[in-house]
Amino acid sequence: MNPVSRMTAPRVLALKGKEPLTMLTAYDYPTARLVDEAGIEMILVGDSLGNVVLGYESTLPVTMQEMLHHCKAVARGAKQALLIGDLPFMSYQASVEQAVTNAGRFVKEGGMHAVKLEGGREHVDKIKAILNAGIPVQGHLGLKPQSVHAMGGYKVQGKTEDSVRQMVEDAKALDQAGIFSLVLEGVVPEAAKKITEAIRCPTIGIGAGKDCDGQVLVLHDLLGITSSFCKPPSFAKEYAHLGADILKAVQAYKQDVKQKKFP
Ligand code: KIV
Repeated sequence: MNPVSRMTAPRVLALKGKEPLTMLTAYDYPTARLVDEAGIEMILVGDSLGNVVLGYESTLPVTMQEMLHHCKAVARGAKQALLIGDLPFMSYQASVEQAVTNAGRFVKEGGMHAVKLEGGREHVDKIKAILNAGIPVQGHLGLKPQSVHAMGGYKVQGKTEDSVRQMVEDAKALDQAGIFSLVLEGVVPEAAKKITEAIRCPTIGIGAGKDCDGQVLVLHDLLGITSSFCKPPSFAKEYAHLGADILKAVQAYKQDVKQKKFP
């Protein structure tokens, strides 16, 4: 990535088939700065915020206020990456008007450049309206955490011919509506490959195999921050063990103070 220019949605779209794309989540100023400095093309302020930062059991309780608070911090830290705000549960499902209003808040108040929303054909009207407001949209198919109750749990998708067919149809509908990229979460790799080949925009996989156009991880899973107290997803790769390092550092500090070694 050119270090002086900001990544844009049209550039992400144009990179399909040229080079693998990278995306990571970030939720605060220091991690946004570091992820940005590493040259990651897209930073998602994901509603996974609820799980890995706010301590909720799912993403369902996350509010627009909480998302905007974290988006603002990320926007202050990241200078090069395309910043994507994740529309939280019930911030877009109710109506086209609600979807456009909240997408607009991500840009106007949160400093984001694009928004992501979960779902397929049922949201095409909302996606078109958000695009008409000048806001790029990223889709999200497969395992949709905001639909955990409808799916009967966090289950990998695309295990039957019919579900693959449905996902391909959804992906094509979102693509034709004008999304600039599509997250495929928890999708059988063969199905993810099929979807990737069927659409014009890049697919960004998480637990969806190696044939997607790019990859995304939740930063806290990559850094090994939460693995000491909750099980990371099986597909996640820990590139560091910061949870264990933080625990050791804090214990060492405590011991030093108790033993009058610090200050
Ligand atoms: O909320 C999130 O972090 C996401 C990613 C897992 C893609 O949606």
